[in-house]
Amino acid sequence: MKRSIFSLLFLLILIPGRTQDEQETPDHVKENKTCLQCHGNQYYYYYNDWVERDIKERMNPYYIIDSSDYYHSVHHAFYCIDCHSTEYEEFPHAGYLRMEYQYTCLDCHGGDETYAQYNFEQIQVEFERSVHSTRHNEAFTCWMCHDPHSYQVSARSERPITETVAYDNEICLSCHANVNKFKLLTDRDNPNVIESHDWLPNQPLHFRKVRCIECHAKLSDTLLVAHEIQPKSQAVKKCVECHSSNSLLLASLYKYQAQEKRSKAGFFNAAIMNEAYVIGANRNYYLNVISAIIFGLVIFGIAIHAILRIIKK
Ligand code: HEC
Ligand code: HEC
Ligand code: HEC
Ligand code: HEC
Ligand code: HEC
Ligand code: HEC
Ligand code: HEC
Repeated sequence: MKRSIFSLLFLLILIPGRTQDEQETPDHVKENKTCLQCHGNQYYYYYNDWVERDIKERMNPYYIIDSSDYYHSVHHAFYCIDCHSTEYEEFPHAGYLRMEYQYTCLDCHGGDETYAQYNFEQIQVEFERSVHSTRHNEAFTCWMCHDPHSYQVSARSERPITETVAYDNEICLSCHANVNKFKLLTDRDNPNVIESHDWLPNQPLHFRKVRCIECHAKLSDTLLVAHEIQPKSQAVKKCVECHSSNSLLLASLYKYQAQEKRSKAGFFNAAIMNEAYVIGANRNYYLNVISAIIFGLVIFGIAIHAILRIIKK
């Protein structure tokens, strides 16, 4: 009796788990496995018809795709062959495929109401005015910052600000701290970003708490994430741009939070308060009023005192 109860429990736990797994593996995940069995690993295997045996080979490290990153990215629901030619299903891949046309973001997102909140068209306009686009034109595409196999939405989410800062800065550092990728675009030396920012006090802290784009992208009214990266001569260098009550951080890094959360408990910059203490930027309305009243009373006291002394004389 006991045993049958146990095995019944066992079945109840195991069977639904298993069938669920089988039912819920979506088609695109199954089909992408045929690509990822090679592109998801350091090594791949294939049958060599010429020598008639199985071969194990190293995968080009730049062609390895992390499947966990892929299925957490904005395009997680895609078949690989939605963006790549179906001819890639064959191996070895045909040589001419490397010249295949690559879609641009606007090919799919342009003029689509579903994505109106992102303002793709305006992003395109700002991007075309950025140093990256003006200096490198066609060679610099949106994909260079938005990895087709891992890009996520971060700023527009409930994630802690520090995670968004780390995520966004990693995008810039993937070139500005990586000679190989930088050299793909220019023969100029890649300036060391740690050295070129040594004028910032506690530079590591600043790089953890603010994004590169806060200082390097022109503020945008329409966009949540400004895309016009300016030449270095126009970068923000003045401390008060952030360390003041009308901190630029409210129009950039904290824009989403500032839109979502109304001012709480009288703090001017409630959005910033929740996440960080930025010297000069975190001021309280009521404390300001109280200090103004105290200041007024002191002046009043001194005036009365002076008048009384004049009368006495
Ligand atoms: C048997 C292993 C294997 C399978 C399966 C495989 N690939 Fe590849 N793929 C490679 C190798 C190796 C390369 C490196 C260049 C070459 O040999 O063509 C490559 C290169 C590529 C490239 C880069 C081509 C270039 O030169 O720019 C793309 C894109 C690609 N594969 C997409 C896919 C897609 C999509 C699938 C699934 C439909 C897929 N591959 C399936 C092994 C594989
Ligand atoms: C949303 C479109 C999209 C999807 C989906 C997509 N890719 Fe790509 N893939 C691209 C683009 C665009 C490039 C070229 C990137 C570049 O030039 O920086 C690329 C490049 C590649 C490369 C060459 C590596 C490189 O950096 O040039 C491989 C290999 C590859 N993709 C395989 C895959 C596999 C496997 C899948 C499915 C798991 C997949 N792709 C899904 C758009 C996509
Ligand atoms: C081949 C067409 C195609 C291309 C190219 C493409 N996208 Fe997408 N994108 C889609 C589709 C379709 C979705 C919706 C996916 C879903 O809902 O699962 C999407 C989703 C997104 C989302 C999430 C939208 C949301 O609210 O969930 C963002 C952000 C995004 N794409 C940005 C980009 C960027 C940036 C590029 C270029 C670097 C790009 N896409 C290129 C088709 C594309
Ligand atoms: C120099 C790097 C860079 C380039 C080039 C770039 N982006 Fe971005 N983009 C970013 C960063 C960083 C973010 C912030 C990501 C986050 O935190 O969600 C972003 C965010 C976005 C978002 C989400 C904005 C939102 O409101 O949530 C979209 C859509 C987008 N980019 C589209 C594009 C398109 C389209 C292009 C090309 C015309 C492009 N990007 C080129 C760096 C870049
Ligand atoms: C794909 C590589 C790549 C990525 C990603 C990238 N950059 Fe750049 N960036 C370059 C290259 C290459 C140059 C040099 C342009 C030139 O002078 O030829 C450059 C130039 C710059 C300059 C101008 C410096 C000057 O000389 O005036 C700034 C500022 C800058 N990048 C900031 C950023 C920021 C901020 C991000 C992230 C949002 C970013 N970059 C992402 C490659 C990249
Ligand atoms: C607090 C504002 C601020 C932040 C944050 C910031 N920068 Fe800068 N950056 C500047 C200023 C100002 C300059 C110009 C320095 C000068 O000319 O002395 C500069 C210069 C640069 C240059 C040109 C360097 C050279 O020597 O030619 C690059 C590239 C750059 N920044 C990239 C980045 C990247 C990538 C990040 C994020 C990891 C970042 N910056 C974060 C303000 C900032
Ligand atoms: C882009 C906005 C921005 C700019 C520009 C900026 N800061 Fe900051 N600063 C911050 C933020 C955000 C913090 C971190 C607050 C926290 O600890 O959460 C910070 C922290 C600091 C701290 C505290 C460091 C510590 O060790 O605790 C000092 C001091 C400081 N900044 C001085 C400066 C000076 C001086 C300048 C001008 C040369 C400057 N900052 C420019 C945003 C900025």
